[in-house]
Amino acid sequence: MNPDQLFEALFWVVPFAFTLALSVFLLYSSGKDKDKLKQHTQKKAFEELEASEERYKNLCENARVGILRMDRKGTITYANRLLNEYGLNRDDIIGKNMLRFIPMKNRPKMFMEHISVVRGKNAEGETEIITPNGKRIIEYVSNPVKHDGKIVGCETVMQDVTDKKEMEKKLEEYAAKLETMVEARTVELKKSEEKLGLLVGQQTSLMRSSAEMIRSSDMRQRLQAIVDAIQGLGWRRVILSVRDEELDLSEPQNLVTAGLTEKEQVFIWTNRQSGKIWLERFGPEFERFKLGEFYYLPYSDPLVREKFRRGVVFSHLNPKEMVDWNPDDLLYAPLRLADGRVVAVLSIDDPNDGRRPTKDSLKPLELFLHQAAVAIENAQLIKQLNEANAKIQKYAEQLEERVKERTQELVDAQKKLLQSERLAAIGQIAAMVGHDLRSPLAGIRNAAYYLKTRASPKLDEREKQMLQTIDDNVTHSNNITSDLLDFSREIKLEKQLINPKAAVQHALTLASIPKNITVKDLIADNIKVEAAADKIERVFTNIIKNAAESMPNGGRLTIASKTGAENLSISFTDTGVGMPDETLQKLWTPLFTTKSRGIGLGLVICKRFIEAHGGTITVTSTLGKGTTFTITLPAKIQNDKKQETTQVAFVPATETPQTVREIRSACQE
Ligand SMILES: Nc1ncnc2c1ncn2[C@@H]1O[C@H](COP(=O)(O)OP(=O)(O)OP(=O)(O)O)[C@@H](O)[C@H]1O
Ligand SMILES: [Mg+2]
Repeated sequence: MNPDQLFEALFWVVPFAFTLALSVFLLYSSGKDKDKLKQHTQKKAFEELEASEERYKNLCENARVGILRMDRKGTITYANRLLNEYGLNRDDIIGKNMLRFIPMKNRPKMFMEHISVVRGKNAEGETEIITPNGKRIIEYVSNPVKHDGKIVGCETVMQDVTDKKEMEKKLEEYAAKLETMVEARTVELKKSEEKLGLLVGQQTSLMRSSAEMIRSSDMRQRLQAIVDAIQGLGWRRVILSVRDEELDLSEPQNLVTAGLTEKEQVFIWTNRQSGKIWLERFGPEFERFKLGEFYYLPYSDPLVREKFRRGVVFSHLNPKEMVDWNPDDLLYAPLRLADGRVVAVLSIDDPNDGRRPTKDSLKPLELFLHQAAVAIENAQLIKQLNEANAKIQKYAEQLEERVKERTQELVDAQKKLLQSERLAAIGQIAAMVGHDLRSPLAGIRNAAYYLKTRASPKLDEREKQMLQTIDDNVTHSNNITSDLLDFSREIKLEKQLINPKAAVQHALTLASIPKNITVKDLIADNIKVEAAADKIERVFTNIIKNAAESMPNGGRLTIASKTGAENLSISFTDTGVGMPDETLQKLWTPLFTTKSRGIGLGLVICKRFIEAHGGTITVTSTLGKGTTFTITLPAKIQNDKKQETTQVAFVPATETPQTVREIRSACQE
């Protein structure tokens, strides 16, 4: 019974009791004299009492709470209609002890309470009652019932709170469930937060590594930054190999590792898999092992055991450290560019936490792989660019060098052209001078001869000497004209087998060697060489003459021979004045001479004649010590080369003649 209902009951009971008491008092106080009045009043009081009792009964009957009345022993004497709603038929319960409807466990308490109420106390509480519909829970208030000032029993007002209790229980359960759920969610949230924190940490570290990666343009440094970054994400061993278009690994510097011993690195290199095998590993057969971009291959899978029997570095992990990662499991991924091209292959192993990776746990690494692929591609491009630059640089240098060479060649060619033009001019003049002077010289010689023979007896010594001077100068002039003609004429070689020693002897005679010069002839006697005798003798004469002229105070001339497999060398060594560098440089220039009576054609003619034979003429000289001229001739001369000729500029005979001195000065300009 709630307080309102209780108040409603009391509202009716209290006035009734008061009226009853008042009537009794009035009857008692009026006395016998007032019997009539007394009878009348008594009747009225009873009528009112009955009416009040009726109202009380109605109230009890229709009350929305259960009302039970019991006698002092607890036997139920009254139960209102509502008890039917509790499943208790009031006709069945009246006359029975209320304890029969109380479960055994509550009976002692209820019994004691009943005792206390019938002794004048109030009680209230909650208890279960047994009904044909099952157990119900009720809240109750019990008060003693008095009659004539004595307690005759007790009245209990009750309310069924079973549904309310069940609701409360359900609510409690629901609240507990909610609490559990909240707790679980909180744990999950915490885990997610931790995971997020880990991911953020990994991401930050990867960002840092990315910056590190692109800081250096050197490929190997970049690769090292990549493997170090991946190792930092919780993998003890990392292998990264840059691959070519066929996915082959061709150079050891394209393989970089972290966490591997040197021996293992060598093992990995020597057991590297071909591009064909890697193509297969990224192919449809392995599709079922994909975790995002990665391939996670549990060793328990028969295909993995079959395909990865060799070339794998065994794990160092202690199986106790493992959660669900098997030390023989494999994890690898291609490093792809946006266009799908694979630039490198990554293998990672031995996770620090001993756990199998998941698609989510590999996500940050996957993002990093794309960056790493781009960084590798860039490094390759930079390398190619540098190589191309170096090539261009080298090519530019070569080009510059070639331009220089070509320019020099052009300058030389131009010089040669000028020189040959000059030589041609000189040749023309030499031919003209030689030709034109021959006849006058012959005339002078004949005239001198005539005077010498016819007028000889009449001539005094002085006049004879004059005629001799004329003769000598004519001879000298003849030599000059011969030189000029030999220099300018086309060479015709009439070759025969000659003895070089005899040729030298003849030349020594022609050169008229002064007495203060000793000649040492060391030429072998048995040598024979095919050559034009007149030309060779002329060459020997010119060289011997020069040697003699270089030793005005006497000296020694050594002439020696040396035979090679296919040639013959003859050297002329004097102990004369020698030559400065300046002279040596101009030695083979036509008309170069350091002598007052020299023409400067002797050596030029020698060179022409020797080269016409296919030979060479060289010189070594030390100033103040002497000079050596060496002539080398081919020892065997082919029959078809019998009539060799050397072309010089052809000189038309109509050009204006000039003196030799004029020619020389023109040449030396
Ligand atoms: N054996 C030598 N020792 C030192 N100088 C030499 C020797 N042979 C040649 N020369 C130098 O070379 C120059 C050129 O010699 P080359 O024989 O061509 O002409 P030349 O002797 O001056 O005149 P010629 O035309 O009369 O021979 C000489 O003037 C001389 O300076
Ligand atoms: Mg000479």
